[in-house]
Amino acid sequence: MTAIASADLHDPAVFQAGIPHDVFAEMRRTPGLTWSPDSNGTRGFWSVTRFEDLVTVSRDTATYSSGEGHIQIYDIDDDALAARASMIDMDPPIHTRLRRLISSAFTPRHVQDYRAAIQLRVAACLDELEASGGGNWVDIVAKPIPIGVICDLMGVPEADHNYLIGLTDHLVAGTGAEPLEPTAYGNTTDLRLLPFNSPAAFAMSQYAAELADKRRQEPADDLITKLIEAEIDGERLSTEEFANFFRLMIFAGNETTRSSMAHLALHLAQFPEAFDAVRKDRSLISAVTDEVIRYSSAILYFRRTVMTPTVLSGTELSPGDKVVMWYSAANFDDAQFSNPHEFRVDRPTSSPHVAFGGGGAHFCLGASLARLEIAELIAAVLDRGISFASVGEPEYVESNFVNGIENLEVAL
Ligand code: HEM
Repeated sequence: MTAIASADLHDPAVFQAGIPHDVFAEMRRTPGLTWSPDSNGTRGFWSVTRFEDLVTVSRDTATYSSGEGHIQIYDIDDDALAARASMIDMDPPIHTRLRRLISSAFTPRHVQDYRAAIQLRVAACLDELEASGGGNWVDIVAKPIPIGVICDLMGVPEADHNYLIGLTDHLVAGTGAEPLEPTAYGNTTDLRLLPFNSPAAFAMSQYAAELADKRRQEPADDLITKLIEAEIDGERLSTEEFANFFRLMIFAGNETTRSSMAHLALHLAQFPEAFDAVRKDRSLISAVTDEVIRYSSAILYFRRTVMTPTVLSGTELSPGDKVVMWYSAANFDDAQFSNPHEFRVDRPTSSPHVAFGGGGAHFCLGASLARLEIAELIAAVLDRGISFASVGEPEYVESNFVNGIENLEVAL
């Protein structure tokens, strides 16, 4: 018999107070995959909540496709899929060729080159926080650092960073329940053709095209120049392909790390012993960084579409079925993590979390960069002896896709 999810996971409201751990725990305990029936005209889907199953799906792109169907829960038409596709919505071999254009900039070794610039950005944000004795941790710390870093890498001028923060916020708003104003940002494109159905995607494409033009006239040592000059089979990326690539990088490099940094403030307040241990033994920095990333699970899920008949955990799956990998559930699977709700700095590095994906072709390109940014923030907080007199209630982003925090007041 098919097990039905006890909450409507289509509904962003279910994630209003963060990850619905009780719902996921019940799903993990239930044999097979759990079914979420159709809701508000969106086709039903299977949920993967156990660590082992998630890794299986992630690593088998032939059976579980990113290129067929959408990678979010809601379905979109084929023309919309084609218009918005970036490498994250593609399967090998084309995915592999696109990823190769840029992957060398994100290796663990290469990202070390950005350390000094990251430290400067972290210091500026913490100076501001300390000068004002606290404030909104998200606005002062969690937002500016990741956007600053990814914009530096891409080659986006500093003066435009806040504009891009606004655009990515508006993209995420497209995963919420509220309909967006179709003509915002002067949008003229049918919303269904735009990523996240958000007019901000239109504005971001326009911005990307203008920046690409500037770099064609004046090349620089940045990723935008690299992308516009790159060739696949002797052909350069079209304006649309470039814009989709740009949007993926800005969104993925910004919103995700921001969410984990926002959660870090909660962790600092909730788990002081863990951070005391790191203060005494700095070799624990990388362990605590990964625990922040696991515990915050900034991306709640990605979806795949079944290509050939298969069986997963005893559940029969048919071509066209939607399979949703809840990273935010698998990261708390007690078959993988002992006492998963404990925030610990002594977890074995041999059993890493799946916040960056379960491995395979789409494993987060920016994992090393995100780790470096978060580690530098933690190190600076500890170096300065920053501690919170109070941390307010987090106001979560209304979304079933990102585990974001909109506002979090802290007092030092
Ligand atoms: C804590 C921070 C981050 C988290 C939790 C995160 C999470 C993820 C996840 C879950 C995926 C999909 C994996 C899959 O489908 O197998 C992904 C893909 C991706 N991430 Fe991240 N990410 C983070 C930071 C970053 C940063 C800083 C960048 C900057 C470049 C980035 C760039 C990307 C890209 C380009 C992809 C698509 C890769 C592909 O399709 O080949 N991410 N990320």
